[in-house]
Amino acid sequence: MPRRMSNAPYDQTLRILRALGVNFTEGARTVASPIDGSELARLTDQTPGDAQAAVARSVTAFHAWRRVPAPRRGELVRLFGEELRAAKDDLALLVTLEAGKVVSEGLGEVQEMIDICDFATGLSRQLYGLTLPSERPGHHMRETWQPLGPVGVISAFNFPVAVWAWNAALALVCGDPVIWKPSEKTPLTALATQAVFERAVARFGDGAPAHLSQVLTGGAELGQALASDPRVPLVSATGSTRMGRAVAQVVAGRLGRSLLELGGNNAMIVTPTADLELAVRAIAFSAVGTAGQRCTTLRRLIVHEGVAAGLIARLVAAYPSLPVGDPREAGTLVGPLIDAEAVDGFRRALDQARAEGGEVLTGGEGLDRPGTYVTPAIVRMPAQSAVVEHETFAPILYVMTYRDLDEAIALQNAVPQGLSSCIFTGSVRESEGFLSAWGSDCGIANVNIGPSGAEIGGAFGGEKDTGGGRESGSDAWKAYMRRQTQTVNFSDALPLAQGVRFDV
Ligand code: UN1
Repeated sequence: MPRRMSNAPYDQTLRILRALGVNFTEGARTVASPIDGSELARLTDQTPGDAQAAVARSVTAFHAWRRVPAPRRGELVRLFGEELRAAKDDLALLVTLEAGKVVSEGLGEVQEMIDICDFATGLSRQLYGLTLPSERPGHHMRETWQPLGPVGVISAFNFPVAVWAWNAALALVCGDPVIWKPSEKTPLTALATQAVFERAVARFGDGAPAHLSQVLTGGAELGQALASDPRVPLVSATGSTRMGRAVAQVVAGRLGRSLLELGGNNAMIVTPTADLELAVRAIAFSAVGTAGQRCTTLRRLIVHEGVAAGLIARLVAAYPSLPVGDPREAGTLVGPLIDAEAVDGFRRALDQARAEGGEVLTGGEGLDRPGTYVTPAIVRMPAQSAVVEHETFAPILYVMTYRDLDEAIALQNAVPQGLSSCIFTGSVRESEGFLSAWGSDCGIANVNIGPSGAEIGGAFGGEKDTGGGRESGSDAWKAYMRRQTQTVNFSDALPLAQGVRFDV
């Protein structure tokens, strides 16, 4: 008789994988749930040879897909959005089980996938190029954006499905197939997403070639295989700065294109005119959401010395009541860290902060239960020392004070990472200064809203150590296409440029 299924992570995962029709070959790589450390599945690693074979299939798919009109390609992405809506609860719960995000964040992540599908569907009719006045009589000149080829996507555990979708939805309407190397910590959500995508392909019918999207599960060598393959013109990678640097160098070595979204060490400046009530809520959400494991997480709080004591007191009072625990339970705001290594990183950073003169005002403890739970920490720092300049992927908020705004902006800008930033202020002079050419040097700059929770409509990305890539909205699609300048002579003469004569 079959065993009754419980609500253990393994059983819940199995139910979802079955419901979504996910199949895989069992192997030696263990996938564990951060909820309690229990095993969810064992997968077979694919090899660099498998990656090369996937690229070959992707090239074949590209040759067919680039001939399909862009708005038709958009129709496939529209269908994918519908299938995601239908699978939203299952996929979101799988994100919770595999990545440890609280339920609302799992749902929010799938919503970002749906949003980018809507965006890309409309975009498929707006891949605009310019028409340009030609200096030669009887000539038309225009630019056309052409499909690029297979796009390699390397993604991180913390947004295990959304970041792939930002890339894939755009790539597909631009005429490019995708090959996805998900984090080895979250392969199941990738396989589930692929199954949902295949449903859209089946509904689309014959016009979609096989292998428009492929998933490669396994270790870093698969990312390296994609990075070094000249048949992959664009490699989009999200993750650590260390990984990004390795990918970028290999891709640049073959003069390929990379789109990188790496570290973040995001700050909030709180000025004397700020609405502190609003600031406290924004700080709590952006510093502890996803247990501090977003690249947009708030890590540095730079507060005017006149309001620091009051603000810190409110935060220190609020933090212990933030519910830490099983991310599946209603009411939990802070789930587990991804694994034991992340907990070590959290502890090491706190030790280093203490050594650099910091005082841990609240949190910083592990929970005495299976899984990788910690209590979010606030650390008062005497200065922006080495530990503060480093991105630790955990819920640690460093607090520093400032006297004048120029000093605060200089502190905010004085780290290598430049993804997201924000100011809380009631003063136009302060907010506009922060948004000016001499203000925040980050890719994202917000006023009276925290640094995390960016919408897909904007170009998401940073500068400096974050790689400088732009993903999702705005004109990020141009990275997935090649620009061709086309000149057509409809005269009966051959006027040469710049008055040159060449009589044959
Ligand atoms: C990331 O942390 O890798 O702004 C992406 C946010 C999300 C995306 C973050 N929309 O927090």
